[in-house]
Amino acid sequence: MKKDIVTLNELEKEDFVCLFDLALELKKREKMGVLDTFMAGRILGLIFDKHSTRTRVSFEAAMHKMGGSSIYMSPRDMQVARAEPVKDTARVLSRYIDALAIRTYSQELIEEYARYSGIPVINALSDKYHPCQVLSDILTIIEKKGGYEGVRIAWVGDGNNVAHSWIMAAAALDLDLVLGCPEGYMPDEDVLEAAEKRSGKQVYVTNDPFEAVSGADVIYTDVWASMGQENEHSQRLAVFKPFQVNQALLDAASDDVIVMHCLPAHRGEEITDDILEGPHSVVWDQAENKMHIHKAVLKSLILDNR
Ligand code: CP
Ligand code: NVA
Repeated sequence: MKKDIVTLNELEKEDFVCLFDLALELKKREKMGVLDTFMAGRILGLIFDKHSTRTRVSFEAAMHKMGGSSIYMSPRDMQVARAEPVKDTARVLSRYIDALAIRTYSQELIEEYARYSGIPVINALSDKYHPCQVLSDILTIIEKKGGYEGVRIAWVGDGNNVAHSWIMAAAALDLDLVLGCPEGYMPDEDVLEAAEKRSGKQVYVTNDPFEAVSGADVIYTDVWASMGQENEHSQRLAVFKPFQVNQALLDAASDDVIVMHCLPAHRGEEITDDILEGPHSVVWDQAENKMHIHKAVLKSLILDNR
C-alpha cells in the first residue's frame, strides 16, 4: 500500500479489499471484547481546520482502542498560523508522531503535507475529497448487501467532496454508481476524467433524481451546502429541492433499498425525518463503521507498511 491516503487513487483494488477484510476482523474482535494493544507507543496527530464530530472522534477512538494515542491540533494554535511553511511543519511533526490525519479546505494543502512528511498522511476531508468516508461506507454496503458487486448505488444531491470520493472508489472497484445532481452542481470535470481514465468507463451523471434512483439498492445523500458554502445555503435550497430523499424517491428504488448519509444531516432539506429515522436507513451503523475502517487504515499505514 502507498504511504498516504489522500485521494483513493493511490489504492489498488487489492488494497481496498485488504482494508475491508481487516476492518471486519478488527470489528469482530472488538465485539468479542478483545482488547488490542498492537498500536502501543504509536501516536496519531490530527490537524483539523473544519468542524468534525464523527471523523475526529472515530480516528481518535480507533487509535486509543488499539493501544495507541492521539494529539489533536488546531491549526490556529500552531506556528503555521504565523506563516511557518507547511513543508517545515510536516518534517518536524514526522519526527514526533507516527501518522497525521488532516481535515482542511484545500486538497493541495493535504498533498503538500503528504509530500514533505516522512509519516503516512490521511485525508480526513477536504473541499475535494472525503476518501475515508467512502471506505467506511463501502464496508457498510458489504455488511448490509453481502458485497458490492452487482449493487446499484445512487448518489443524489450535490456533486461534492463525498461524491468525488464515490466516483474514485467506483472507478477502482468497478461499482455500479449513478449520480443524480442538479445542473450546475455536477461533479468536477477533472474528477470525472481521472475516474474514466482509471476504469475505462464513463461515469453516469443525470439531472433527474428519479432516473438516478431507479432500481437502486443504495440511495446516498449528503448536505446541499458543505462546510465553507454556508453563504450559498438559501440559493442552494431552491435548486436542490427536487433532489430531496423522501418517500416518493424511495418508491422508485428497490424494495429493500438502504438509505445512507455521511451525516451531519439536515432533516427537511436533503432528507426527510421519516426516511432518516425509518426502516431503510442504515446511518447509525454507517457512522459506527467509520471507526472500524479507521482502525484498518491506521494499522495498515502505520504498522503493516513498515
Ligand atoms: N461524516 C463526517 O465526516 O462527519 P463529521 O463531519 O462529523 O466528521
Ligand atoms: N459534504 C460535507 C460532508 C461533511 C461530512 C461537507 O464537506 O461539509
